[in-house]
Amino acid sequence: MSILKFLFTLFLITPILLQAKSNEDLSLLKVPMDEFIDSLMKKMTLEEKLGQLAQYAGGGSLGFNTRIDDDRKEMIRKGKVGSFLHVLGADFLGELQKIAVEESHLGIPLIFGLDVVHGLKTIFPVPLASACSFEPEAVKKTTRIAAVEAAASGIHWTFAPMVDIALDPRWGRIVEGAGEDPYLGAVMAKAQVEGYQGDGLSFENSILACPKHYVAYGAAQGGRDYNSAEVSKRTLGGVYLPPFLAAVKAGAGSLMNGFNDINGEPMASNRELLTSVLRGKWGFEGFVVSDWNSIAELINHGVAKDRVDAGKKALSAGIDMDMTSGIFGEEILKSVKKGEISQELVDKAVRRILETKYKLGLFDDPFKYCEVEAEKAEILKEEYIKFAKEIACKSIVLLKNENGVLPLKKDLEKIAVIGPLADDRRAPLGSWKAAGEEKDVVTVLEGIKNAVAKDTQVLYSRGCEVSGDDKSGFEEAVSVASEVDIVVLVLGESADMSGEARSRSEIGLPGVQKELAEIIVETGTNVVVVLMNGRPLATPYLSENVSAILETWLLGIQSGNAIADVLFGDYNPGGKLAVTIPRRVGQIPCFYYHKNTGRPASDDVRRHTARYIDLPITPLYPFGHGLSYTKFKYSGLKIKNKKVEANDSLEISFSLKNTGKVAGSEVVQLYVKDVVASVAPPVKKLVGFRRVYLGKGEEVRIGIKMPVNLLGFYNKEIKKVVEPGEVKIMIGSSSEGIRLDDSFIIEGEISEIDDSEIYYTAVKVNRD
Ligand code: NOJ
Repeated sequence: MSILKFLFTLFLITPILLQAKSNEDLSLLKVPMDEFIDSLMKKMTLEEKLGQLAQYAGGGSLGFNTRIDDDRKEMIRKGKVGSFLHVLGADFLGELQKIAVEESHLGIPLIFGLDVVHGLKTIFPVPLASACSFEPEAVKKTTRIAAVEAAASGIHWTFAPMVDIALDPRWGRIVEGAGEDPYLGAVMAKAQVEGYQGDGLSFENSILACPKHYVAYGAAQGGRDYNSAEVSKRTLGGVYLPPFLAAVKAGAGSLMNGFNDINGEPMASNRELLTSVLRGKWGFEGFVVSDWNSIAELINHGVAKDRVDAGKKALSAGIDMDMTSGIFGEEILKSVKKGEISQELVDKAVRRILETKYKLGLFDDPFKYCEVEAEKAEILKEEYIKFAKEIACKSIVLLKNENGVLPLKKDLEKIAVIGPLADDRRAPLGSWKAAGEEKDVVTVLEGIKNAVAKDTQVLYSRGCEVSGDDKSGFEEAVSVASEVDIVVLVLGESADMSGEARSRSEIGLPGVQKELAEIIVETGTNVVVVLMNGRPLATPYLSENVSAILETWLLGIQSGNAIADVLFGDYNPGGKLAVTIPRRVGQIPCFYYHKNTGRPASDDVRRHTARYIDLPITPLYPFGHGLSYTKFKYSGLKIKNKKVEANDSLEISFSLKNTGKVAGSEVVQLYVKDVVASVAPPVKKLVGFRRVYLGKGEEVRIGIKMPVNLLGFYNKEIKKVVEPGEVKIMIGSSSEGIRLDDSFIIEGEISEIDDSEIYYTAVKVNRD
């Protein structure tokens, strides 16, 4: 500990030291958090307290900034800021921290935040992609590595994971989350929080997680970002809240509100959800940061008359830190002085922020993440890059593979790589690329060149741009395609077509890419399409006309190598869709856990059922779908306890065999359906899964232990209950590919279950 830091600490804890009874008590580390903070808060002026509630952007860049203006530095000196966001760099942040610690009145350290969403420098697949791995452990590892890199670069806090359930592919931010399913969303939320926060906030390399955007931000009407959400309490509790609950129970130390209103109540001032549910019911102990300027936007929502009013509403609803609007740091002061806002309310928020700083160990060592040498050593390590390829491979979903055209041979004489994204370095980095750099990206063209035999000729033609109507490259593309036996056609969306404020009203291939596909298909050459995109794309033409399709989303820096591994069979794909792919935009919302309705959709167009007259009833590809180069046989389903009560666990087992010619993996999926309930149940609901790796010919017995409480739903009184009666279980390789089914009985009375608890199914693979 430096002399300065020691003196600073001594100053803060003098009153405690005076009361200390033994030498042991004198150790700083032993000063309990509450006492430490009580003592600190006694010394703080009101201005300094409000300063802790204020977070400002470190500069103009929406990515990150490595310098800030002098007036910002002056604010630090005056104790007018508690946190900066959009900043990065051990050296730079060390410099800011030094000002805070050594030049401000009380020397309270700053907390630095950044959107580290799918990697800091080693960019991993976007969250929608990694959710398709159905491997929470692997996803956790991506966030652990991201935390290590971020911590080495001065960052204490990430604005992640984004755990918004998204049913609408028009919404550009669907790319940032784990897709449509609440159970998968909860599992992935937990994994990511655990990865970021590591063994605890005070540990080396741990960063604070911030699940966002609480809540129902993904339910934006029409898929238009920032739009209102109309969501019933039943749907809120059953669909949108579970991933947040999972993140909170996993120990997330902070949380961010959504920009949206729910049924007319903006989330930035929604006391019921921010305080009664989050803190009261769930016991959340961290702090809540507002999303960017969303406190001031309460005026636009029409629920606050001016900035002061907006600040009062947000603070009393439960927002603790104000991201960028400046209201908590400035306007609130007068209201507190006039007695319009209680000191107590301000103190509560200040305490939560100081507690977090304490838990992060910042009072003990404010410079813990500011070591320039560590920054150099920890970034983009060989092992991280290797893992970036592994998780990219796991995330790829093989949508179609007609006549086993894939995997390709590596010693082809010639192969053509065509398309606007084939050699694109930006798209794979996706939205929120943090410090990711294009120079570190391996494109599909490069990946293929790395993979093929040395005599294989790789021909390349761009064909067209991602958007626009220029077809001048078509002729060359056709001539290249005509020379070869196999074309790898790389199509999709550019990086800036998904993410925040990137909603689209069409979800097909942008520009003239479909026309490019058509003329390539017309050459008669076998076409394998590699899709790169940040949202489900409705591409029925491709599904009907090309031989194979890989959904690769936006895979990060190792994109090209991972795609090549799958194309040439070095990796057998096993990812499954975390989100339904519709046939057409008009089918939205299109998700697997819809209700049956009184007139369930039927293929027979003459009947009056819940269908469109101009579309088949099925999606293009269902949730959970994904092919492999091998085949799996499911058999021998056994239910150990056919009669259970709400608090029991259902125990089932079945056999899974790899009956194909190569090793591979299968994501076994367990769905349930209440046969009769007091409110209409969904046609099925995912309650368990596991990705199982099997060698050629290998057979295993899978054991599942499912808490019956997972069947809980919100009844007419909006109480979470499990009702007695028959429940169907369905085990399958996708939500539509059910391979085994049976049913069991829940006995007893209707039982109310604790909806502040989260339940998980254990799936075990018995290899004996
Ligand atoms: C606004 C976005 O909605 C949020 O997700 C992000 O964390 C903040 N800006 C900070 O960049």
